[in-house]
Parts: sequence; structure tokens; C-alpha cells
Amino acid sequence: MILKNFAVFEGGDGSGTTTQLELVRNRFIQSSPPVFPPLYTTCEPTDGPIGRLLRSALRGEITLQAETLATLFAADRNEHVYAPGGIEERSKRGELVLSDRYVLSSLVYQGIDCGEALPRRLNSRFPLPELLLFFDIESGLAISRMQGRQIREIYEYPRFQRKVRERYQALLPWYAREGVRVEIIDASQSPQAVAEEVWRALTQMPILKG
Ligand code: TYD
Repeated sequence: MILKNFAVFEGGDGSGTTTQLELVRNRFIQSSPPVFPPLYTTCEPTDGPIGRLLRSALRGEITLQAETLATLFAADRNEHVYAPGGIEERSKRGELVLSDRYVLSSLVYQGIDCGEALPRRLNSRFPLPELLLFFDIESGLAISRMQGRQIREIYEYPRFQRKVRERYQALLPWYAREGVRVEIIDASQSPQAVAEEVWRALTQMPILKG
């Protein structure tokens, strides 16, 4: 099922999804008088209890089996989508919901870690977004952009990130066949140029076209 008014940002680590979500938020805030629908920006892992547990595993503070991680990402998502004030409720009442990562992150990252079947099964119930923006960047460049960060996470090494990009590219056609509008963004450009591409794609959504 496709959830209208819901778009997701996906890409490998260091592809700039978080920065770009922030730029979209600013653009909304700066529009005065407000001409846009209410905007809800969010991310996965969430900042709820399961998301916090996941972040601690991502930082390597606790070690969990790959299958446990896959299950926790899906549990975190279940709260994210279905809890009161969550993705489903908000998008259905006419808010524009933008999430930094969603189901495809699990199919890609946990697919690499524990095979395709488990993440597919765990994620089969979730509605799909109307629009998916894939931030495409050569993994070496993405890794070099992350060099300044203080904390390294368990997936942030070159061999894994190369596989991440390959799996995203392999899975995008499947998403498109399911009826998701997929836009590939050249994430190697300057943040401003990327922001323009993102804005062009978002403003094609019916909720923003008016
Ligand atoms: P990221 O979104 O890059 O956030 P931050 O910049 O705060 O580190 O990190 C989230 C990490 O979690 C990223 O490496 C991808 C991973 N992840 C999964 O493996 N599976 C999932 O289902 C999700 C949502 C994220």
C-alpha cells in the first residue's frame, strides 16, 4: 500500500540525507506567510526507546546478533508508523511527512548482514512512501566526507558501503514497480545544488502542487 503525503530520503552513510532534510525544514520555516501544509520531519532509528537501543548498537556499545538488529529496526518502525502521532496518522490527516530512512534501509543494510528473507518478512506490513529520494554517491567520496565525525558506527567502513550502494541500486526498480515514485539525486554535488534537486522532486508531490 502507498501512503500519500509521505516521502523518504535514502542513501548510504555520508550521502547527506540528514543535512538535506534540515534544509527542507528551513525552507518551510522561511516561507512566510506559510503557504505550505504542516511539515513533519522524522528519522530512523527514531528517538524512542527502541531507536535509542539501536543507536547504542550502531555505536558498538552493545553487540547484537544481525537478526536481533533486523527485528529491532522493524519494531522501531512499527512504533514510528502506527503509534499515535506517527507517520500513518499524520500523513492521513494531510501533513507532509518526510523521513530520513525507512523500510529500504532495512532491506539494504540488514539484507547484507543477514540475508534478504528476514528483513523482507519483517517489513512486509509497512505502507510504502509516495516518493523515495535516493541520494546516490560514490562510496569512497561518502566515506571521505565522514572523516571529520567523532563517532564511527558499525556500518561505516568502505567494503560495507560499496555493497550498500549496490544493493540500493538493485532494489530501486522493485520499489518503482510497487508504485513508489523513485528519484535519484546526484549527492556528490554541493549541498545547495542537491537541495535544489530535492526541492524540485518534492514540489511534484500532489500535496505541494495544491
Ligand atoms: P544515519 O541515518 O546515518 O544517522 P547518523 O548520521 O545519526 O549516524 O545512521 C543510521 C544507521 O542505521 C545507518 O548506518 C543505517 C542504519 N540503518 C539500518 O541498518 N537499518 C535500518 O532499517 C535503518 C533505518 C538504519
